[in-house]
Amino acid sequence: MGGQWPYLPALGPPAGMQPLCVNIRTLLLLVLLPWPGSGQFHVIGPGAPVIALVGEEAVLSCQLSPSVDAQNMEVKWYRNDPFGLVHRYRDSQDHMEQQRPEYQGRTEFLKENITKGHVALKIQPIQPSDEGEYVCFFESSTYYNEAQFQVLVTVSGMAPNIHIEPGNRREIKLTCTSTGWYPEPEVQWRDHHGLNLAPASETKKIEKNGLFHVESSLTVAKSSRAKVSCVIRNLILRVEKEVHVSIADALFPEDFLWIVGLLAVLILLATSATTCVLFVRARKSKGK
Ligand SMILES: *[C@@H]1O[C@H](CO)[C@@H](O)[C@H](O)[C@H]1NC(C)=O
Repeated sequence: MGGQWPYLPALGPPAGMQPLCVNIRTLLLLVLLPWPGSGQFHVIGPGAPVIALVGEEAVLSCQLSPSVDAQNMEVKWYRNDPFGLVHRYRDSQDHMEQQRPEYQGRTEFLKENITKGHVALKIQPIQPSDEGEYVCFFESSTYYNEAQFQVLVTVSGMAPNIHIEPGNRREIKLTCTSTGWYPEPEVQWRDHHGLNLAPASETKKIEKNGLFHVESSLTVAKSSRAKVSCVIRNLILRVEKEVHVSIADALFPEDFLWIVGLLAVLILLATSATTCVLFVRARKSKGK
């Protein structure tokens, strides 16, 4: 990952000279191994994937080993896929000319500890497209080295909502929806024993803000009178949001609406009948 300037040509051993070449390589490695004063260094990135929450800040720290002063080095953070510069620092200042446009105004180079070879890049606010592989790269006048690491972007969405519609005479359809999740969450229907119920349909789509909207439907028998819940789960944060519904309660509004509707029709009929009678009477009295 690192190299001495000028580049050492690759050691392509001629056939038959393998043992000797291995020895030379070992020797070179020993000589090139970083030691204080040699001007060489390793870059150490975050040890584990950085978990970054959408809308919050993420700090990507990298340090040199040994902890040499990096004030006069060039320090860059870049991405491989899609390739592009995230932030660049050189000659004691930021150089943003080649920065990828989506990072504009969102990066800050933290150089408080740069003399100890410890720097960090703050990105704020985090958006879903920030997910991916990053590299932090250090280059002195004589040496360069870099470290690669992963950024995982995540967020937990809203508590789900259950919408109830009459299916046919014996069934009702429950639709559970929720927005604002990243990455794609897991959606699950459970009965009151905690057992999985298979959904009739499930859709997950990405909205304009890059976050997932999920929708899952379940068909249940009206007679079941069961309690079911819809659970949406973020697998990175191990966070889940749940909503319960009781079929018995869910049926009540429907029956209630039916009664209200019937009453309305009866009232309407009664009113028109009265109007009719009054009208006929009025005509009769006029005729006399
Ligand atoms: C610099 O080092 C100090 C002491 O180790 C630490 O508390 C601080 O968080 C570091 N700053 C940055 C930006 O890493």
